[in-house]
Amino acid sequence: MSRVRGSKTVTIGDATLEVPSFVSASNERTTAPRKKHFRQRAHCNPLNDGQFYAPVMPSEMDWRGHYEELYARAEAATEDARARSEAVKIRFADVGCGFGGLLVRLSGVFPNKVMLGMEIRDKVSEYVRARCVALRRDHPGEYENISCVRANAMKNLPQYFEKGQLEKLFFLFPDPHFKAANHRRRIVTTTLLAEYAYVLQEGGILYTITDVEELGTWMSDHMSAHPMFERVPESELTIDPVVPLLYTGTEEGQKVERNSGSTFLNVFRRVRNPHA
Ligand SMILES: C[S@@+](CC[C@H](N)C(=O)[O-])C[C@H]1O[C@@H](n2cnc3c(N)ncnc32)[C@H](O)[C@@H]1O
Repeated sequence: MSRVRGSKTVTIGDATLEVPSFVSASNERTTAPRKKHFRQRAHCNPLNDGQFYAPVMPSEMDWRGHYEELYARAEAATEDARARSEAVKIRFADVGCGFGGLLVRLSGVFPNKVMLGMEIRDKVSEYVRARCVALRRDHPGEYENISCVRANAMKNLPQYFEKGQLEKLFFLFPDPHFKAANHRRRIVTTTLLAEYAYVLQEGGILYTITDVEELGTWMSDHMSAHPMFERVPESELTIDPVVPLLYTGTEEGQKVERNSGSTFLNVFRRVRNPHA
């Protein structure tokens, strides 16, 4: 289970919210891999990255190796192929999951949801996969619903997920790509929002948070202008168990917290297709 060392207060509109301060993974007593053995350049160019495996279509992916225990349990529980496939279907995706902090926190909050981190840096994605395996070893029966793939979500997201498959999509502290010439490398753009609307089910939620105000405004403007998304009202955010984890659940969020930086939260809902 994730350890907490206190809390801090954030404001959402007029409301205040207590968010937990997590103990960083490197301080936990665990057989998990050490981050220092998986270091890699902080940034990559998602438009110009080397070729690596991506499925041609979602049905080509065999997820058994990622969620072995879940598959075994689903197979023991029922012979109905549809029910089995439902039990192991990925519903949450953390895009640019970094070292996997969010997945680890969410795993116990939603033990019946299957979650995937997508990370473009190979060493970092390897670390997250190894971290999930170690957590399962250290805590039998837990963390069976989380795993990670190396993927360039900007290029290949619809090859991993079917239309309307996802309930939640996360973009936490995405790379800011400050220069105007590099804005097309940003993970939230009008074109990519159409893909996110495709993989999210109606009512599905897209969570974003950043410590870069200009990027927060960029994401807010793009999502507000998109016909397939509407802003989730503050009254819902303050009761959503996911929201506190967005601030401090990830390694980047913990860094921002240590530096007492500001954060900019934007959460949008995938609405019904107005032309359907
Ligand atoms: C600033 S880090 C944030 C990591 C994590 N979400 C957190 O809050 O700690 C951004 C991450 O996104 C990854 N990333 C950038 N572009 C990506 C892409 N197109 N597909 C998948 N991951 C990507 C980077 O490698 C990096 O690990």
